[in-house]
Amino acid sequence: MALVTGGSRGIGAAVALRLAEDGADVALTYQQNADRAEQVVEQIKAAGRRALAVRADSADTAALTAAVDQVAAEFGRLDILVNNAGIYLTGPVEDLGVADFDLTVAVNVRAPFVAARAAAGHMVNGGRIINIGSNVAQRTTFPGHSLYAMSKTALIGLTKGLGRELGPRGITVNLVHPGPTDTDANPADGPYAEVIKGFTAVGRYGAPADIAAAVAFLARDDSRYVTGATIDADGGFAI
Ligand SMILES: NC(=O)c1ccc[n+]([C@@H]2O[C@H](COP(=O)([O-])OP(=O)(O)OC[C@H]3O[C@@H](n4cnc5c(N)ncnc54)[C@H](OP(=O)(O)O)[C@@H]3O)[C@@H](O)[C@H]2O)c1
Repeated sequence: MALVTGGSRGIGAAVALRLAEDGADVALTYQQNADRAEQVVEQIKAAGRRALAVRADSADTAALTAAVDQVAAEFGRLDILVNNAGIYLTGPVEDLGVADFDLTVAVNVRAPFVAARAAAGHMVNGGRIINIGSNVAQRTTFPGHSLYAMSKTALIGLTKGLGRELGPRGITVNLVHPGPTDTDANPADGPYAEVIKGFTAVGRYGAPADIAAAVAFLARDDSRYVTGATIDADGGFAI
């Protein structure tokens, strides 16, 4: 049974569907788009799996912890956590305030820690924790990304630290770095898309399903010897 944070749209929705196709029951959290979340739930059910959407703002520690506990209780287990929900606050450093810093850290860094802490309490040996970082942690090609890049770089350390700690229980913790991926947050026909494409080796945006494929590998039982690792699913953006 898998929990995907931010599963109502974009990469999170693709991950939720892929894990369902691979045989998992799937719960997802969202912040505000209840309709989109229910659409994903219906698609998962159409794939023959159980599904549940829970509204939980990742910036709200209590709500996020309660969502993890609720899902584990309703499904009777929790095997896979995908920390996908993220925000993308960008701008010149003089325009970014402390509130932007705090919100970026709360959603992109604190929430993965909080959800992993809660999930680890429910997982039996052999669980999977998969964090979604960003190619920007490796190669910050544009100005304005100071907070976002900082937050995604922090996930490298969180992934390694948790991987080391949970390894004896057979729980692996890994990180996926998506490259430019066609979602509401970064549409492939957006104003900077042509320039962004040029930074990749393959010369194009990825689809959310391309990122989900990397997550699906890390969620599999036979990825059991991979932990603390980062997989770049970025079309060669970082090379
Ligand atoms: N797209 C890219 O090019 C790209 C590249 C590198 C990394 N990433 C990373 O991939 C992840 C997903 O990105 P995306 O492009 O799919 O984003 P997106 O299209 O903006 O979708 C964001 C998802 O996260 C949810 N969410 C946002 N803030 C939340 C909060 N505070 N609490 C709970 N859920 C929240 C949204 O829920 P609602 O629908 O309710 O708003 C939605 O399901 C993020 O971590 C992002 O940093 C994306």
